[in-house]
Amino acid sequence: MDEQQGEPSALEREGRLGQGAPTAPHLHITHPLQRARVVLGVSGGIAAYKAADLASKLVQSEAVVDVVLTAGGQEFVRPLTFQALTKRPVHTDAFAPWTETSFGHITLAREADLLVIAPASANTIARLALGLADDLLGAIALSTEAPLLVAPAMEHGMYHHPATQEHLATLVRRGVIVVGPERGRLASGYEGDGRLASVEMILGRARALLGRDGPLAGKHVVVTAGGTREPLDPVRFLGNRSSGTMGYALAQAAIDHGAAVTLITTASLSPPVTATVVPVETAEQMRTAVEEAVKEGDALIMAAAVADFRPDRTQHQKIKKRPDQDVLDLRLTQNPDIIATIDHPGLVKVGFAAETHDLVDNARAKLAAKGLAMIVANDAVDTIGSAESVATIIQRDRLPDELPRMSKQRLAAEIVARLIPLLEREHDDGA
Ligand code: C5P
Repeated sequence: MDEQQGEPSALEREGRLGQGAPTAPHLHITHPLQRARVVLGVSGGIAAYKAADLASKLVQSEAVVDVVLTAGGQEFVRPLTFQALTKRPVHTDAFAPWTETSFGHITLAREADLLVIAPASANTIARLALGLADDLLGAIALSTEAPLLVAPAMEHGMYHHPATQEHLATLVRRGVIVVGPERGRLASGYEGDGRLASVEMILGRARALLGRDGPLAGKHVVVTAGGTREPLDPVRFLGNRSSGTMGYALAQAAIDHGAAVTLITTASLSPPVTATVVPVETAEQMRTAVEEAVKEGDALIMAAAVADFRPDRTQHQKIKKRPDQDVLDLRLTQNPDIIATIDHPGLVKVGFAAETHDLVDNARAKLAAKGLAMIVANDAVDTIGSAESVATIIQRDRLPDELPRMSKQRLAAEIVARLIPLLEREHDDGA
């Protein structure tokens, strides 16, 4: 019935993400959800309809998704919904006949890279905590070695009942990742705790969980993003067109490989869910935040477009134009060069060079002048504020690595793949 179930898991097929070909210019897998075998357990609760969106987003992330519906889950959403979204059979029956390639819960459990239960009802959480195998989902949860992510959703009272809280504490103690629930409007119409965590949150945690044992596990990567804003007066600033996209993609790519990430940013994009976000505005604030973060950092990636100059003083009141004034003179002071001046032994520094001419020569000069391990050179006009980039990656004592036009997400994966051996080398040298 389900011939695809005999497939090995993605991690078995490809080896762990990023390993094997860390400097390959064209990676097969660029993020951990891609081709991962995810078993999505859906239990009974009105939030089960949101699991359809989660299944769809997992499929869009190129995961191979096997949905298992509990009896309660089937009361809310039909198997056909998930079958249509995942293009795979949906599993409901613990006693379905075995075939040559599919041995019920054993096959699903063995092939899974990750088990996600969303929504997890109070009843399912209790069954998981007690280790009950009274249905297919319970049997899979007991027999799989894959990590388990549980997203509870229920009424406020059920969630806060000591029984549910104790069961959740038991799961956490066993290493289960519990995401949410959130506070908000519940199906009853009352406000309270018990809303299913957002699909983005569940996806982000799933992604981080799949990547957590990657080659950057135990490393702390500090990433800056966005253009600094240098205030002229309370309402105006000097800024630039940087969107922050590159920095956010780098933060995600480092998390994908198991790193802990601090993202120091002027942008307000939605950050990777496991990143520690430090919002800043000015170059000086960014410098202070970077200085603090790199104390525990292994790598600093400065993707931010830092203003070279700032107004030498910020007016406390809004600057007024006068009828007799044709020209406004601004005096600017040079900002500190953050990446050039921040250093500590073993810190691997990666910079960007957005240039309008002599790309490689200018970037190489910056690599040397700022003490960088790697610099990513790209055309300033073509890149800043755009979703794509044509970049050349330059490392010391290596030929420039010219990459074709690609999304910033893909470029981030390429950069992080090259950062991994640099950090390993630092580790070996320091050992
Ligand atoms: O000299 P340039 O601004 O082209 O250098 C770009 C690189 O240096 C980027 O990685 C940028 O984030 C970083 N930079 C910095 N502090 C500054 C200016 C740039 O860290 N004041």
